[in-house]
Formats: sequence, C-alpha cells, structure tokens
Amino acid sequence: MYAMILNQLNYTVDGRNILTQVTQQIKIGERIGIIGANGSGKTTLAHLIIGDLIQDNGTISVNGRVAYVPQLSIDISNQSGGEKMMQRINESLNDQPDILILDEPTANLDMTHQKWLIKRLSHFYGTLIIISHDSHLVNQVVTKIWSIQGTRVAAYSGNYDDYMMQINMANDTQAQLYRVAVNKKNQLGRAIEKVQTREKQVTKRPKNISPSDARLISGKGKALKSQKKLGQNVKSMARRFSELEKVDKPFATKPLKLQAVVDQAKKSRAILKVIAETVQIGDRVLLKDVNFKLDSGQRLAILGDNGSGKTSLIKHVLSNYQKPVGYFTQDLSGLNENSTVLENVLLKSSQTSQLARDFLGAFGIKRDKVFQKVRTLSGGEKVKVLLLQVLFTDTQLLILDEPTNYLDLPALDALNNFLTHYTGAVLMVAHYQDFVDAVATQKMIIKAQQLLPI
Ligand SMILES: Nc1ncnc2c1ncn2[C@@H]1O[C@H](COP(=O)(O)OP(=O)(O)OP(=O)(O)O)[C@@H](O)[C@H]1O
Ligand SMILES: [Mg+2]
Repeated sequence: MYAMILNQLNYTVDGRNILTQVTQQIKIGERIGIIGANGSGKTTLAHLIIGDLIQDNGTISVNGRVAYVPQLSIDISNQSGGEKMMQRINESLNDQPDILILDEPTANLDMTHQKWLIKRLSHFYGTLIIISHDSHLVNQVVTKIWSIQGTRVAAYSGNYDDYMMQINMANDTQAQLYRVAVNKKNQLGRAIEKVQTREKQVTKRPKNISPSDARLISGKGKALKSQKKLGQNVKSMARRFSELEKVDKPFATKPLKLQAVVDQAKKSRAILKVIAETVQIGDRVLLKDVNFKLDSGQRLAILGDNGSGKTSLIKHVLSNYQKPVGYFTQDLSGLNENSTVLENVLLKSSQTSQLARDFLGAFGIKRDKVFQKVRTLSGGEKVKVLLLQVLFTDTQLLILDEPTNYLDLPALDALNNFLTHYTGAVLMVAHYQDFVDAVATQKMIIKAQQLLPI
C-alpha cells in the first residue's frame, strides 16, 4: 500500500527547471530523508506534496492526512528558534497525522533537543519525510534517501551512511572505468600512429628504384591490398578510439580556498575585551562575571543549551562595542529582500563585485543567480547571502550567531576556509559540533549563569 505516488512531476519557475520527471513512490510507514544542495528544490517538493504549489505537469496522489512543519526562516517572536521548532514538531506529532513532513527540523536545536527529536521520531509509526542537511539525524531516522541531483530525484535504500557507501562505490567504479578507458585510449592512439606510418611506407616507392621496377618487385595488386587493409584497420581503431572517449570523468569536488576579505587587523591586540560584565534581560540575570579577550586570529565559540543566554551575551557585546562589527544573526533581518544577491553582499563593503561573485561562486551561488532578487531565494540561499554580506563588512570583528544552520556541505567548507584564514577576531555560537571543532581556537560554555573555559 502506498502513502504517496509521484508520477512524472515537472516544476519550473520563471522558465527555469527546478524539478523534472520526478517519479517515486512511498510505502506506508516508510521513512524518507530528502537531501540536496541549497536551492536544489527540497522545500519546493514539500510544497508540491501539500498542494501549496502546483506542478506544471505530472500527478501526485497522497493517501492519508499530512502534517507539514515548515523550514523556519524569520524569527519574529521572543522565543528562540529551537523552542519554536520544538513546539511546532510537538503540535504536529500530537495531531497523529498519517504522513509527517519535517523541513530542516534540527536547524536550531541544541544537542539535548536533537536527541529528543530522534527519540520522538522513532516512536512515530506513520510515514515520515524529513528534509535535512543534518547527516546524523538522517542516519538515525530514515530507511530511504531521496537525493536531489540537478533537477532529478534519485532514490537510495538505507540511511545516510548506506547512501554515502553507494555513492562512493559508484564513484570508485567510475574512476576505475575511466582509468581503464584512458589506458586503452593511449594504447590505441599509439597503434593508430604505427599503422599510419606503415601505411605511408607501403605506398612510398624506395628512392633508388624506378617506378616500373618497383611495380615488378612488389606487385601493384599486393601493395594496394595491404594499403586498403591498413586503411580499414585505422578506421576501426579510430571508431573504437572515439567510443572510448565516451566514458565520463568521475565527479570530483574542488577544494574551496578563500582568503579573509579584510586584512586590516594588522595583528592588533585585544580586538575585543570583556571584563567582569553582567548580562541581563530586564531584571533577570542570565550571566554573571563574564570575562574574555579576543586577539586577532582568535576564534571563540560559545557553547550552552537552548535558552542559556548565548544570544543575549552576543547582543550585550554588540551594544557595548564601539567600532563596526560584522554581525550575523538567525533572523535574516540584515537582508534587503527586494535587492539582488550581489547588491546585498556588497551592502556594507568596499570590495569589488568581482570578488563578491568569486565568493558567491564558492558558496554555490553562480551565474545569473547573483542577479536574482533575494525574496525569491531558498532558505539556505538566503543564509548564504547574509553570511557573505557579513563576511564582506569592513571590520575586524565578526560575531556569528548560528551561521551554519541550513548550509549545505560546500558552503560549510567555504565558511570554514574563510574563517580559518581570517585575520580579525571571531566570536561565534554554533550547534554544529564538527564545524566548531574545526574552526574555533578556543571554546567556552555557559553553565549555571557562568561563562567557563573548556
Ligand atoms: N520566483 C522565483 N524566481 C526564481 N527562482 C526561484 C523563485 N522561487 C524559487 N526559486 C528557486 O527555486 C529553487 C528551489 O528552492 P527551494 O526552497 O525548494 O530549495 P531547497 O532545496 O529547499 O533549499 P534550502 O536547502 O536552501 O532550503 C531555488 O534555487 C530558488 O532560488
Ligand atoms: Mg528548503
């Protein structure tokens, strides 16, 4: 019995293909993980399934009641992003839908709540569709992967690790096929050259023999025959040669290297100093006796549970810092939705648009996309644009509050690369452990109203 059947779905926006020929079925009780780069069409697919968007052609049949928890983008209330997501997931689960679709559910959740979510989902007996960049979640919860590659959806059985194994195996096989093809091609190339040289020798009359003697010695018929045969050999070799060219080179991702945009820190000491400060909201004290100092090239990560006061600490620092700061926050309020991608990146920067385009490219936003209005971008694409606007700000201090949410892997690599080469100072909050470990030069944790070094 099927929970859902997608048949030959096509969806375009502004003449651009977003999804093409999507044909997939979901059995009742199956758990699907939808993965793919930012802007590849994951949220669009969810909106097509729930009927918020209508496909250009193809059909979708859904068997049962669907609950959809959308991707959070703009954080308007006082609730933290994590708390809001938890509330929405809880409401949907309590509703006991037949099919539950979650779009980036862990983007704002701390470790404790991520564990809570995995447990709750393992007790959900309906059909589950999770859209996520969080490989840990996808690994724990799903039994099948839909990977959006280009505009197509490819299905792989198993969880995220199984998917990676299948992808790596396919890449290895492709690499092997390619190596064999290249060898054969070289061999054939050499053979063709050899045959062509022989062909010339057969038709050429030795210099010291007259034409009539040559005819007598070799016999014209014989020479013509071998010339023809050699010609056929060359032809068939050339055909095989051209067939060999058809093996595709295996796909390889290029390492992304970014240098810090603003190199004006000049190793100045103590870009940020916080001494014995108290952080409070109204009368409520969140943190007491906060002390830390950041020199150029230092990157401090602040850890702590949802609601422990990380964002409040950042806001406190911001309101007391006198110089310009590159500040990234989850609410995306720094974006001008009606301006283009490129205009947004350069909003607070003296850098050139060529450099901005290079950076955008490294983050996966390429070609005409840089002229697209920000309001039409996917959640992750918006995050990338704001992040680049912040990184491009003329400043010595970057303050990044959850910069990794929604980002795909190439963008995470690019950000990591940028930050580790950055000559100013960085203060950041991020839930994504691997990223923090790779980027931070020091870590502190909030526990019982105190900020403690780890
Ligand atoms: N009006 C529009 N004009 C041009 N492109 C559009 C428009 N609306 C949506 N798009 C494009 O559709 C694509 C798919 O967006 P979608 O939100 O489905 O991506 P996604 O896979 O969910 O990405 P993310 O991981 O960032 O959430 C994006 O590249 C987006 O820029
Ligand atoms: Mg999305």
